Amino acid sequence: MTAPGPAGSGVELPRLLDELERLAGFSDAPPPAVTRVLWTPADRAARDYVRGLLAAAGLTLREDALGTLFARWEGADPRLAPVATGSHVDAIPGAGRYDGTVGVVGGIEALRLLRRGGFRPRRSIELIVFNAEEPTRFGLSCLGSRAMSGALDPEAMLALRDGAGTPFAAARAAAGHTGPLESVRLPEGAYAAFVELHIEQGPELEAQGVPIGVVTGIAAPATLRATVEGEGGHAGAVLMPRRRDALPGAAEIALAVERAALASGSPDTVGTVGVFRVTPGAVNGIPARVDLEIDVRDVSLALRDRVVEAIAAAARAATARRGLGLTLVTLNADPPATADPQLVDTIESAAAGCGLAALRLPSRAYHDSLFMARLCPTGMIFVPCRGGVSHRPDEYVSPEHLAAGVAVLARTLQRLAA
Ligand code: GLV
Ligand code: MN
Ligand code: MN
Repeated sequence: MTAPGPAGSGVELPRLLDELERLAGFSDAPPPAVTRVLWTPADRAARDYVRGLLAAAGLTLREDALGTLFARWEGADPRLAPVATGSHVDAIPGAGRYDGTVGVVGGIEALRLLRRGGFRPRRSIELIVFNAEEPTRFGLSCLGSRAMSGALDPEAMLALRDGAGTPFAAARAAAGHTGPLESVRLPEGAYAAFVELHIEQGPELEAQGVPIGVVTGIAAPATLRATVEGEGGHAGAVLMPRRRDALPGAAEIALAVERAALASGSPDTVGTVGVFRVTPGAVNGIPARVDLEIDVRDVSLALRDRVVEAIAAAARAATARRGLGLTLVTLNADPPATADPQLVDTIESAAAGCGLAALRLPSRAYHDSLFMARLCPTGMIFVPCRGGVSHRPDEYVSPEHLAAGVAVLARTLQRLAA
């Protein structure tokens, strides 16, 4: 067969762009923003659309008990473990159209490209469409891959509730997914390798003018949920000395997050309070309760953990001083992942084979690859995004870079499955 490339030639770009455009239409936010939260009608419609693309590509579909899709191109030797690619289609509120979707629709195009070139895989190739890579609904990222890897057991899944208080089991049933949760876990050796194509979500590739990133590892993410409880009341009638206002205590926690991340001594440490929900949320009502969700990451696990501890200590001190209640829960504190060195080399030489320059770099964002790396040798291919912008409606990837990413993915899968 002919090898994909050079520089993305052979990729059916108008079709790929049209598919990304259609996929972006399944959204709870007006364009260009994309909001697609797990198991909402928009998410389910997007998955139905993708299911159609997978079937049209001649792949055999299977769905697990969480709704993760596995689309298989049968290889000539059924005794060999398959290689896999894929990513996610859910999107945080007010996101763009490329995060995750490039690895799904681009992954499908990579398989179509290989088929058009006459490739016949020896190993089967599977394309996985993960569920809930984003933590928006249940506060927990990478739900599907976390469960597949065994890092999330059924009991912990069943303890989850979404922001509206809907239990996990009810939400899953409403989305039409059935089957034992135990069945989601995959055995070690289920895949020979996993490769995810994704946008960089940072500025490095664009700044260096390099079209392909080869990920060396994924930074360690942690998420904390803090609930600060005080006493509500009338904003005019309750005098200041008598107050137990939850908000200033919560504000102290938010400032402690920034302070701890800045004080870590490493430019790789980041801390974010992305959720800050005030109850009752009325201008003339004293805040009785504030819910915060805190995201902390570092490529170094030790530094990340030290920052998490500093935030917890500051939260305890601030709320105690103010006579406020505090519930602090660690939703996840994941170790970092290292890309498989051999796979890094394979991706790099695939890029070279396509005539494309490549740069090794870490992923500061997390991905389903963080958990797939627990199951099998894992690697990631990055393409640049304009200005390094992601998780924003103005996220943008050039057609040329999309084609380059698809070509390198196709060539990598070809090597792995031949
Ligand atoms: C993934 O979306 C992340 O937050 O890194
Ligand atoms: Mn994302
Ligand atoms: Mn993503």
